[in-house]
Amino acid sequence: MADLMEDPITGAASAQDTGKKTHPKKLRVVPESLRKFREIHVLAEAGGPPEKIAAQKAKGKLTARERIAYLTDEGSFQEIGLLMESRCTDFGIKDKHIKGDGVITGFGRIGGRPAAIFSEDFTQLGGSLGRTHADKIAKLMDMAVDARIPVIGILDSGGARIQEGVDSLDGYGEIFYRNTKASGIIPQISIILGPCAGGAVYSPALTDFVFMAKGLSHMFVTGPEVVKAATGEEVDFETLGGSMTHASKSGVCHFVANSEPDCFRQVKELMSFLPQSRFENPPAQETKDSADRRISLLEKLCEVDPRKPYRVNHIIWWLADDHKFMEVHHDFARNIVVGFIRLGGQVVGVIANNPAHMAGALDINASDKAARFIRLLNNFNIPILTLVDVPGYWPGVAQEHGGIIRHGAKLLYAYAEATVPKVTLVLRKAYGGAYIAMSSKLMGGDMNFSLPSAEIAVMGPRGAIEILYSRQIKEAKEEEREALRAKLAKEYSDKFASPYQTASHGSIDEVIEPSQARSRLIGAFRLLAGKRRPGEHAHTGNIPL
Ligand code: HXC
Repeated sequence: MADLMEDPITGAASAQDTGKKTHPKKLRVVPESLRKFREIHVLAEAGGPPEKIAAQKAKGKLTARERIAYLTDEGSFQEIGLLMESRCTDFGIKDKHIKGDGVITGFGRIGGRPAAIFSEDFTQLGGSLGRTHADKIAKLMDMAVDARIPVIGILDSGGARIQEGVDSLDGYGEIFYRNTKASGIIPQISIILGPCAGGAVYSPALTDFVFMAKGLSHMFVTGPEVVKAATGEEVDFETLGGSMTHASKSGVCHFVANSEPDCFRQVKELMSFLPQSRFENPPAQETKDSADRRISLLEKLCEVDPRKPYRVNHIIWWLADDHKFMEVHHDFARNIVVGFIRLGGQVVGVIANNPAHMAGALDINASDKAARFIRLLNNFNIPILTLVDVPGYWPGVAQEHGGIIRHGAKLLYAYAEATVPKVTLVLRKAYGGAYIAMSSKLMGGDMNFSLPSAEIAVMGPRGAIEILYSRQIKEAKEEEREALRAKLAKEYSDKFASPYQTASHGSIDEVIEPSQARSRLIGAFRLLAGKRRPGEHAHTGNIPL
């Protein structure tokens, strides 16, 4: 049996066999204005022409609109600026009447909380950025700052729209300016899901977090062809600016995803740790994980040789509520580990030396990585937990000439500047300048604990005795030197290779029972929770370091 349906645009009846017995419906005439409105919206929402959408799919990519659907809570997205078009009269751009000008902008909910989102549409003029495209993003960012909600950008673009000349360059200018002004006020997240070339890379670089997906995302200031022409180097897209390059070498990328859906899942998880703006606290979550859960792993740590490497992630997992740790910058400067956990339900940012990599020593990249993360935590009212096991700064000409003094100073600055609650736990070694840098008491640590296995000293026993007893060691007979060294090192260790001298001077507040570390840390953060009311601190911004 045929059923008469109303076409949403024309209002005309169409037949559909539903098998049901019905009476023909009286058809309403759709007013012209409504018909036009619906027609425009259907066309505008379709994005680029079918062949461009097919090409996008063939590359294994989602469309700009599908991406928003993955990211936001179902049915929550409200678009603004769908009908905006380019005003560029050159190259016939205006006559193409591209609705939205290659970018979708609007507001949606993620995990129930509002966020501003823009998603570049590669199927329309290659997602290139013209002035209208930029104006839409800028307007969205202004609204997000006013509304105190995060901005998430999904980038898939050929860069500055060549046909619009300096107008498109200026468009980037207005975005970079807003990225900087909004920095530290609202979280800004960039998701690269296609090309991001030329000066366009600097908008993501100014934001707090950059996500890339394996095989889909590429970022570079100059592409392989320009590199070849300028330097003679031959390099492919992936090696030059793929996700793993930026995650492990340049440090531009904080999170690598295996696919687009995996990427959106990670973004949502990250957002669950962040407040909506610097005027809020991060969202707490109830946990059934007991605050008193004993950490037997830390008892074992007291037994192991101080030089034995281990992954500090294991300790973080054991300390965290429900063993959940969202690591940031996993593949970059692996000698330091940073990320988010919850302790007793409250979000805490962790900074931890990682003895599994370069013995956990501090170097240029580790200093930059940790310093920027600390500044982000401070901006967004997230307390800081520092886990210390550091033999010092990584030695070498490359580090000295590369500016370890300048970069290392950023870490000191960030810790001293941070006014959020700061709790430190010394696990094992804490030597020299690196001991001071890692949120030591006199650098402003609020509560400084150590395990009984901690060794806090100017340097390790072997290095110290070579300086203190160089004459005696030189004068000793060749065959007696090693025994003398061992004896002197033991004497030095007995005196300094423990936390007790430091505790007696008050630079460690308490040496704690290792198995009680979780409950002691939760207690300390609860005690310090009122240290600073949200939004009270001066705004500093999260400058890329
Ligand atoms: C205008 C562009 C464009 C651009 C791509 N398109 N980039 N249109 N301006 N910057 C158009 C193409 O002409 C094509 O249009 C469509 O987008 C798809 O592009 P393809 O080349 O067919 O796609 P693909 O093979 O996937 O290659 C993608 C690409 C390549 C790698 C991004 O298009 C490319 O190299 N583009 C230029 C990248 C670049 O150098 N940008 C930097 C610009 S300078 P049709 O009509 O054929 O479908 C810059 C400076 C900013 O950004 C400075 C800020 C301060």
